[in-house]
Amino acid sequence: MDRPKKKVVLRAVNSMSSLSTSVKENGGKGMRAVNSLTSISELDDSDLLALLVDRPRVKLERKNSYDEKFFSELSLYDGWETPTFSISDSFDPHPMVSKAWEALFRSQVYFRGQPVGTIAAYDHASEEVLNYDQVFVRDFVPSALAFLMNGEPDIVKNFLLKTLQIQGHEKKIDWFKLGDGAMPASFKVLHNPIKKTDSVIADFGESAIGRVAPVDSGFWWIILLRAYTKSTGDHSLAERPECQKGMRLILSLCLSEGFDTFPTLLCADGCSMIDRRMGVYGYPIEIQALFFMALQSARSMLKEDAEGKEFMDKIQKRLHAMSFHMRSYFWLDFQQLNDIYRYKTEEYSHTAVNKFNVIPDSIPDWVFDFMPLQGGYFVGNVSPARMDFRWFALGNCIAILSSLATPEQSMAIMDLIEARWDELVGDMPLKICYPALESHEWRIVTGCDPKNTRWSYHNGGSWPVLLWLLTAASIKTGRPQIARRAIDLAEARLLKDGWPEYYDGKSGRFIGKQARKFQTWSIAGYLVAKMMMEDPTHVGMISMEEEKHMKPVLNRSFSWC
Ligand code: GLC
Repeated sequence: MDRPKKKVVLRAVNSMSSLSTSVKENGGKGMRAVNSLTSISELDDSDLLALLVDRPRVKLERKNSYDEKFFSELSLYDGWETPTFSISDSFDPHPMVSKAWEALFRSQVYFRGQPVGTIAAYDHASEEVLNYDQVFVRDFVPSALAFLMNGEPDIVKNFLLKTLQIQGHEKKIDWFKLGDGAMPASFKVLHNPIKKTDSVIADFGESAIGRVAPVDSGFWWIILLRAYTKSTGDHSLAERPECQKGMRLILSLCLSEGFDTFPTLLCADGCSMIDRRMGVYGYPIEIQALFFMALQSARSMLKEDAEGKEFMDKIQKRLHAMSFHMRSYFWLDFQQLNDIYRYKTEEYSHTAVNKFNVIPDSIPDWVFDFMPLQGGYFVGNVSPARMDFRWFALGNCIAILSSLATPEQSMAIMDLIEARWDELVGDMPLKICYPALESHEWRIVTGCDPKNTRWSYHNGGSWPVLLWLLTAASIKTGRPQIARRAIDLAEARLLKDGWPEYYDGKSGRFIGKQARKFQTWSIAGYLVAKMMMEDPTHVGMISMEEEKHMKPVLNRSFSWC
């Protein structure tokens, strides 16, 4: 594939120029520039904060490890013009950065000459391609962010429009028709060399292992549309009637009324990044956090016309109810764990404290050791008599970025990551979930899945792609040192190991049993993490603030009103 000529755009960080930066030849790789003389890993926190302090209209006073000003001003930079200028050379980044850009450009997929996405993995050595030669919606998100940060929004716009078109296809599994709003898990461009035509085939779950529709795809699509709008300042795409309709169709799937007693979204197992049976059915944190973020994003883009107005009201109510529900019932810290441990069961009526009738004996032993005195997290799932106490990375990071977590909860999540670094990060960031299911539990919960054996793949494997989410969350909470430590670990191995999809083992030391190499989101995730550390305002693309009026009173026995 020929790589189109790249614009080399440098978004200058004012204060960066006061640090001695230099411009070097990079062979026209078209990568975003980074500071050469002072790499981010050599900067300490005060330097990084200084970069922010020096910015126009961004004032920062850091009193302690959490600073609300940092939190809000960093991501609210609407209207603030980031100085942009073009250069023919670029600063000399970590050697891995240019390799990563080369690999990312190579993974681009074209439709009628236009780039429309990136393939999941460019792994020639692997005999089994399966569906890794497709463009996955969720996998494309870090690629899209990397392109946006590099000043190349076209591929993102093409992707958003192409997937929107695909949404319009009729979706059937056997004789059953899926909802109109469903977005594909992935699509593939078929080139006909004889007729010289391109066509697209998509998968809405009908080909996927387990036949599950991807609930996360629609949410990621809305989140990406907002990131595109924020990054380019181009509102015309989101305002197009077809984009407005696409959003409404996705929203109508998840805002419709039914038999639900909770504001969270009921899902089948395997409907998101963890796309195999892993006991995440019910109300998985990953989907709840993405749902919340998508609602916030849609609220900022939906027009308040006749059709949009109705959705806006529903969104507002749902966000309010969800933040109460999640912050109260999914939250676990030392105090809360102790309360559950002492729960009475069989309580009846709305005065019940143990509302879901969680039986204390069902608390797994590991969680008592795992829970630090300071720190906390959103548990994996909450439904009647069932609390999945496992820690999931994506859901917790998205909870921070979307402000589903309160500022205090966000800090506690980062505290926990630091306190349980060996378990959650170990040798390769970041564990997809903790701990792994083993023996009998593995048999029952995964259905004896040989790919998801303990500490492998979705069952406690370590996924480099999650580095960008950890980095964004670290920056948003004003704790970039956490991201820096994680990036250093990734830099020690990722390129050398050929950008694996995942790592195995308790501390993530082994390249995954069946991991693809040159997995695109491992590559893009690294680039996004690097670029956010270099210019932390990029986090604003993917982060949103808490609405003050949404702050619920955290009184656990007061949900019935
Ligand atoms: C695996 C992952 C899924 C990812 C896909 C393509 O199926 O579980 O999350 O989207 O590979 O990389």
